[in-house]
Amino acid sequence: MTVSEQSGRIVPSPLVGEGQGEGSAGRCAPPPQPSPTRGEGAIELERVRADFPILREVVRGKRLAYLDNAATTQKPESVLRALDGYYRHRNSNVHRAVHELAERATLAYEGARDHIAAYFGAAREEVVFTRGTTEAINLVAWSFLRPRLQAGDEILVTTMEHHSNIVPWQLVAAEKGATLAVAPITDAGELVWDEFLARLNPRTRMIALGHVSNALGTVNPIEDVIREARARGIPVLVDGAQAAAHLPVDFAALGADFYAVSAHKTYGPTGFGALVARREHLEAMPPWHGGGDMIRTVSFAGSTWNDVPYKFEAGTPDIAGAIGFAAALDYIRALGLPAIAAHEHALLDYATARLSEIPGLRPVGTARNKGGILSFVMDCAHPQDIGAILDMEGVAIRTGHHCTMPLMARFGLSATARASLAVYNGTDDIDQLAAALLKVGKLFG
Ligand code: ALA
Repeated sequence: MTVSEQSGRIVPSPLVGEGQGEGSAGRCAPPPQPSPTRGEGAIELERVRADFPILREVVRGKRLAYLDNAATTQKPESVLRALDGYYRHRNSNVHRAVHELAERATLAYEGARDHIAAYFGAAREEVVFTRGTTEAINLVAWSFLRPRLQAGDEILVTTMEHHSNIVPWQLVAAEKGATLAVAPITDAGELVWDEFLARLNPRTRMIALGHVSNALGTVNPIEDVIREARARGIPVLVDGAQAAAHLPVDFAALGADFYAVSAHKTYGPTGFGALVARREHLEAMPPWHGGGDMIRTVSFAGSTWNDVPYKFEAGTPDIAGAIGFAAALDYIRALGLPAIAAHEHALLDYATARLSEIPGLRPVGTARNKGGILSFVMDCAHPQDIGAILDMEGVAIRTGHHCTMPLMARFGLSATARASLAVYNGTDDIDQLAAALLKVGKLFG
């Protein structure tokens, strides 16, 4: 580690190995490691479950079937240890002081950036730490798009976007006299491809869409979207909140301009995430939050900016959040995304079949390419009542509009019930869900 003469910033060595620069091994626990690598084979469900202590909780006197993973995932021991280990052995501010704890914190924090960048197939300079997907999209809206936007311009989104991929664009559009164009979807919840293409025009300044819909589970054809966008010189932002723990993402190969993620939906801590962005965009974008660490020089006559990505990271960052996120991604990598995807896909098929047996249940979102999300309504009960009855049976799902009010309107609904899967779910969780839904039918039917 060296101190940059130009900025006074503590700069980690180019290859930050975890544990480097630490005190004696006996006094300072080694940085957390993921569970032993289990290779790319099938998921060993009971071993995976054993990694998540919260799954042993009893709720309402019942075994917990946690099926609210699209809202937030649970955290494995390795992530809990990473967070605990940081505060016990490394807690200090980053990029500032030369004492040992500051060095440990900076090494762990910047080492985390290396892990996160590697996971997403990006360079470390292309990873801006944020509070999550929402803040990442707002950063792009305010710093990338706003300066380029003019009256009459369009931002293309889809009907199935989360509010966080609608409202930030509306805010900058309203200021500039631009508008949102919306690509429609089919009754199954798939993008209508011809209609999507028809909405691309010389006024389109940005395309923003989800990789996986949080409310429907639809996996969007983002490779095709990016190909068409690049052919027309239109930048693309992909909301990867519901994809990063379930599908491989290679930012460089994908060719997207921006990819936004949240740690808490990838088995990591809440309040943390990242914007993965092409370096040339970050270089060209003005800062959006001013404060410490994002500057190179400050005087009352004016200030100059730090290098990317620090230019966008004003103030003391969520150091533990970065370390926890890296540990979470290491955990996913150790299990192997192909194994996770195969497990969740098989479980989605099983759950889809089980739910089809429930009288009066109608699925909402039946795309051919789907992630592990099952939204549904029932003839006999409001989603809120379904959620309450399921809770009494130990089944945790989400009910409501899922922050997708325009999508709900598209289906003529105000709300759905939604079960969403993660790697620790099994057929027993789905059986518990199905049995609870039969009780809903008996109570309200
Ligand atoms: N976006 C999260 C969800 O879909 C909160 O539930």
